Amino acid sequence: MNLPNYYENPEITSIGTMPDRAYYIPVPEGTADAGGRLADSGCVTPLDGTWLFRLFPNVLEVPECFPQPSYDESDMEPITVPSVWQCGGYDAHQYTNTRYPIPYDPPYVPFQNPCGAYATWFDYADQRDGSHMFLNFEGIDSCAYVYINGQFAGFHKISHAHVEYDITRFLREGRNKLAVLVLKWCDGTYLEDQDKLRMSGIFRSVYLLRRAQNHLRDFTVSQQFSEDLKTAWLHVSARFLEGIGSIAYRFWDGNTLLAQGESADGIFSLQVDAPKLWNAEQPYLYNLELSSCGETIREPVGLRKIEMRKGVALLNGKSFKIKGVNRHDSDPVTGYTQSAEQLLRDLTLMKNHNINAVRTSHYPPCPELLYLCDRLGFYVIDEADIEAHGGIDLYGADEREIGRLAADSRFANAILRRVQHLVARDKNRPSVIMWSLGNESGYGDNFVKAAEWVHAADASRPVHYESSVHPYPGTNTDLSVLDVYSRMYASTQFVDTYFSQPQQKPFIQCEFCHAMGNGPGDLEDYFKQIYRYDGFWGGCVWEWCDHAVYAGETPDGKPRYLYGGDFGDFPNDGNFCVDGLVFPDRTPSTGLLEYKNVLRPVRAEAADTRQGIFILKNCQDFSDTGNTVDIVYELTRNGKTVQSGSLPTLSIAPHTAETVSIPYVLPEDGRCFLRLRYLKKGGADCVPTGTELGFDQFELPVSGGFQLPELVVTAPVSFEEGERYISIFGRDFRYGFDRYEGTFTSLTSKGKELLTGPMSLNIWRAPTDNDRNIKHEWYAAGYDRALPKVYETDVKRDRDCVVLHCRSSLAPLFIQPVLHIDAAYRVHASGRVDVSFEVRKNPVMPVLPRFGVRLFLDRAFSHVRYFAYGPIESYADKHQASYRGLFESTVEEQHVPYIRPQENGSHFGSEYLELAGGGTALAFTSNRPFSFQASPYTQEELTQKEHEFELEPAGGTILCVDYKQNGIGSNSCGPELLPDYRFDENAFTFAFSFLPYALD
Ligand code: GAL
Ligand code: MG
Repeated sequence: MNLPNYYENPEITSIGTMPDRAYYIPVPEGTADAGGRLADSGCVTPLDGTWLFRLFPNVLEVPECFPQPSYDESDMEPITVPSVWQCGGYDAHQYTNTRYPIPYDPPYVPFQNPCGAYATWFDYADQRDGSHMFLNFEGIDSCAYVYINGQFAGFHKISHAHVEYDITRFLREGRNKLAVLVLKWCDGTYLEDQDKLRMSGIFRSVYLLRRAQNHLRDFTVSQQFSEDLKTAWLHVSARFLEGIGSIAYRFWDGNTLLAQGESADGIFSLQVDAPKLWNAEQPYLYNLELSSCGETIREPVGLRKIEMRKGVALLNGKSFKIKGVNRHDSDPVTGYTQSAEQLLRDLTLMKNHNINAVRTSHYPPCPELLYLCDRLGFYVIDEADIEAHGGIDLYGADEREIGRLAADSRFANAILRRVQHLVARDKNRPSVIMWSLGNESGYGDNFVKAAEWVHAADASRPVHYESSVHPYPGTNTDLSVLDVYSRMYASTQFVDTYFSQPQQKPFIQCEFCHAMGNGPGDLEDYFKQIYRYDGFWGGCVWEWCDHAVYAGETPDGKPRYLYGGDFGDFPNDGNFCVDGLVFPDRTPSTGLLEYKNVLRPVRAEAADTRQGIFILKNCQDFSDTGNTVDIVYELTRNGKTVQSGSLPTLSIAPHTAETVSIPYVLPEDGRCFLRLRYLKKGGADCVPTGTELGFDQFELPVSGGFQLPELVVTAPVSFEEGERYISIFGRDFRYGFDRYEGTFTSLTSKGKELLTGPMSLNIWRAPTDNDRNIKHEWYAAGYDRALPKVYETDVKRDRDCVVLHCRSSLAPLFIQPVLHIDAAYRVHASGRVDVSFEVRKNPVMPVLPRFGVRLFLDRAFSHVRYFAYGPIESYADKHQASYRGLFESTVEEQHVPYIRPQENGSHFGSEYLELAGGGTALAFTSNRPFSFQASPYTQEELTQKEHEFELEPAGGTILCVDYKQNGIGSNSCGPELLPDYRFDENAFTFAFSFLPYALD
């Protein structure tokens, strides 16, 4: 086709579209809700459904007559609208983070620019009343040429913009053809370099609106409050298509009509006395009805006031916290296309995990999302469709080049229009509490101007833009137009330094706690700071969901989730898109559970555990605990609940604390813990009453510990020495020890062999995504290939025991030794072995992934029982969602199926461990809490395989018993692991005991 070239001209963002307006869907006056946002009504004709489609490699290949009604459509195939064509099997997926998928030559794009030709037909009956038909698109990536009955109706870009065309003049009675040509790339691509799978097509709904000859086009609901917030005023001002129009309005509080009236010019105000204010905890909505020209617009209204005062963010005069996530429209099957059910599922899950805020990274979300946020209660940081990150990847570029387009006057209009689209569409949504100018595009004149425009258009909300920390040289970088100081992934040290000075603007981390793979491990540390500093408004975890593409199942029923590089895509950024708190299918990760408990509504501190005195702090911003939280307690002794009860209703005002006394009686002995569980009170559909919102656990001052079983001993322990192997045996056991490898090669109990491979020293773990940087040091230090060297082994009898001593080192190929170990194994007549390792680490070597022993156990050992932080995986810096208890599970259940395999399923703070199966058990204890991991997979397998669905079980149980593991952190994008969680000891002792025994 010979197209007018609007797609390489950033001055043009659209041709033939209507001016921007607030998003709304009218219904015919007098009708109740049509049932669903876009349901067929006298006003709406949905066009979503099956269209015809054909993909061409470039615009020239598209037949000139394709938009014509006469075009032979037999070479087109059915496609669902909305959808992205890559998910329909066209073109190919690509995942790239910062690097552009095209050469960088703005505003130009490659000639070979895939384009999707779409066609559909609809009926039209002219009502001869002068009414208009508007064609609405809620999202097309990246730009579209629109034709009605072969005539060019217009063009637009900005993928996540809602646009509308008046197509009345192109229509004819009866069947009408809508043809849309969508280009994969346009100059807008330079401003849509968001870190995501790159998808194309008509990915949001399409519909027609029939409107009267004159009708309400746009309206703004603004709010004003008396100083004491006891009175609110709504000011509504509407704009009509032609001149001035009148409006009949009604304002409802539930079923109570609070106000009604008529406005001859579409401008009116109304007063609300004693308003019920909106906040995310109590999202109270009023309803405004605007009727004019035969139609009604129903508009939820949440009354709330946002202020930034003296460096603190206030909602309705109270300081409050952003406990948020970054959310992309992303699904492994539908891609960018999100149904109302999918949106509701995400928000419901968030709400059930105490999340109260969403940053719509990095574009305006599907409009439906905001209505759900209004209703369910979420603070939304609504972001413009802008990211130009790829500037940093140019040849010879440094970090500052992120801001090239921020300072390029050719893109001034494009940036401004993107921000205008955002604000115009979403200005009436109460959940939107802040505008964000975009993401990672550097700072310069274009953004300063956009911010100035926002302030002039909407004085009621603050403006956010993190990338102002990257000013482009030689342009206007005035920061006064931004209302918050925003950073991403700033370390806790940075935060402390920042707050050591008085600050003028609230501080927010628009992204932090990178949730990639096993992690994040730093949530609690940040939230301690958020609660500590009034000016720390909060943050949004990066990010809500794993992005991946679902490619069916393996023969054994595992989902095949693909990521960058799996599609032959170049450039690609591998699994960096798989970095969410939920798996692609929305199964919560342990990171989400961790976040949930970090965000628990109440936090308890022990004042006196002997007397049962605790201080409970209400961490909610607006709700009294008396109406929102029921508290129950459980006292466990050696893992069993021995006392429990519920606390009487406790009224604790937001941000305050109360002392309570819990009527338990301390047991005489045993490992005793108290757990306070916070249950939802007065729940709603999305968080039912009784839902556990979080917990605290306290160790009680009772002495006790876990012991290995006491076996009746009827025969002494003896040993035999061979040249290489030493055999140690009693009545029911026989162990083999390799004096040259320094390992147990055999452990038998009542004739049954437990081991399928030797029990050896182990320092490796399958790198997690958060080990992304440190793993290079680990490989350089050879930790993945360390071999034992035994210098000396001796065995002797010591009273009732046999004692083995072994002096050895661990040294990797072509590298000096990492560790020197003096090991002692004291074997008792019962078969119990007391192990002790004295370890010296070469101090020039990096922190260790872990230190411990690894056992290859027979597959019969499929059952695990343990006292540790559980029942989910736990680590030194990731155990907020687990608690100390006695848990049982299968080894298989211990495995966490991260999309890219990595270390998983370990348990921090272990005090007792028992593997059992086939009538035999193997138990462990230590005088000091240890870590363990029981897995069907070897760490080598977890290291090598790129996808969960490729993992092959080892055929037995791989058991690691560790002195320690390095922490988890969030260094996949965030700061280095905090010193407290680094396994950086250069000399340590690890002692534990184990006992194989027959289960009778
Ligand atoms: C940030 C960016 C996000 C995402 C994240 C890494 O820099 O804003 O879009 O790329 O890093 O996952
Ligand atoms: Mg980026």
